[in-house]
Amino acid sequence: MRISVIGTGYVGTVSAACFAQLGHEVICVDIDKSKIDMINAGIPPIYEEGLAELLEKHAGKKLSGTSDYRYAVMNSDVSFICVGTPSGPSGNIELGIVKAASASLGDALKDKKDYHVIVVKSTVVPETTEKVVLPIIEKYSKKRSGDFGIAMNPEFLREGKAIYDFMHPDKIVIGSLDKKAGDLVASLYSGLDCEITRTNPRTAEMIKYVNNAFLATKISFSNEIGNICKQLDINTYEVMKAVGKDFRIGPHFLNSGAGFGGSCFPKDVKALIGKAKSIGYEPLILESVIKVNEKQPGRMVLLLKKELGDLKCKKIAVLGLAFKNDTDDIRESRAIPVINELLDNGAEVSAYDPMANENMSRIFGNIKYNSSAADALKEADACLVMTEWDEFKKLNKEFDMMENKLIIDGRHMLTPRKDTKYVGLCW
Ligand code: UGA
Repeated sequence: MRISVIGTGYVGTVSAACFAQLGHEVICVDIDKSKIDMINAGIPPIYEEGLAELLEKHAGKKLSGTSDYRYAVMNSDVSFICVGTPSGPSGNIELGIVKAASASLGDALKDKKDYHVIVVKSTVVPETTEKVVLPIIEKYSKKRSGDFGIAMNPEFLREGKAIYDFMHPDKIVIGSLDKKAGDLVASLYSGLDCEITRTNPRTAEMIKYVNNAFLATKISFSNEIGNICKQLDINTYEVMKAVGKDFRIGPHFLNSGAGFGGSCFPKDVKALIGKAKSIGYEPLILESVIKVNEKQPGRMVLLLKKELGDLKCKKIAVLGLAFKNDTDDIRESRAIPVINELLDNGAEVSAYDPMANENMSRIFGNIKYNSSAADALKEADACLVMTEWDEFKKLNKEFDMMENKLIIDGRHMLTPRKDTKYVGLCW
């Protein structure tokens, strides 16, 4: 099949590369010509494990890039909208880019004689495909739904593991208004060993939000239990390990710590809250999920103050800046509110992240960035562990260089040493 993918962010580029790997002919579309040049040269515009290899293999063969919507639509059978849906000021998603992409697709569709399907892959709140995207395409193409197909096909790709997740999905959800459009989209995934769930578009949109909201709820629930356990001198990891053995609960996403970050969980839970409120429903659990998550980083600083007292002029090593391990992404990283609070308290921050130093330096120009954990720890009065990087598990003699051997672990990463004061956030 011939596919065009609108947007060369992480979802668009990963989907394009994986569709090419599945044997389809793929055209990437982006108004940013520099990104298209990179795609055509086989260079990924974003970092994602395994993506460089796939682009190198398929660029110039099964995969190409253009900024010309008309060319892309004329030379493909199906177009995926994979553009960003950033959070607006009230937490609701901004649909400006989705609307612009829909208008450009509609315009390009105007002169096309053959059947074409437009698929929304961007994360959008229920009703968006039917009430926002579809009317725009109808207006600009001067065609009616049915002349072209419309579908919603959410992504469930973890950053850092997105290629693996695309090629080994545990579910594929396709929401379409009619069978013909849904069948065509389903056929694109025939090379994957996975059951396909067929729904209408608004159900598919909801499945995406509920998936992320439920995972975020598991984390905030685990953090709340962890905060209670801490006060009772109970190790919450022992508790959750046992609780997770119940097949109805499962062992994953029960790791308590400094909270969830990233470009998805905080944004998606807030967007679902906004949608619920817009229809007159007060989503109490979802609001608590966000509240617990926003309070959690502050608990790191509370524990630090309990141990050190006044933080003025104290040197605090912050290990981990990325929102999770194996990425340089710092969006909504829990390290951000922690560093802000440390600076507000007059502390000196000495930071290290294996991949995210550079990105964080765009937010904080006034902290020290180090090229190793050992350097960050030199003469520090305390160390805060903020991200679950594997390399932190192996740290040992590096702590000898601290002025005062105090560790506040926000991710349950370290094994306590006898000569070190170790404080777990929730254990
Ligand atoms: C998340 C979902 O896991 C994907 O399925 C989804 O497709 C994606 O959002 C999206 O909507 O695009 P991602 O944001 O890459 O993926 O990150 P996760 O690996 O899910 O981790 C999110 C945050 O939760 C991280 O900050 C991590 O540290 C935190 N976390 C995770 C915990 O605090 N505890 C846990 O037990 C697990």
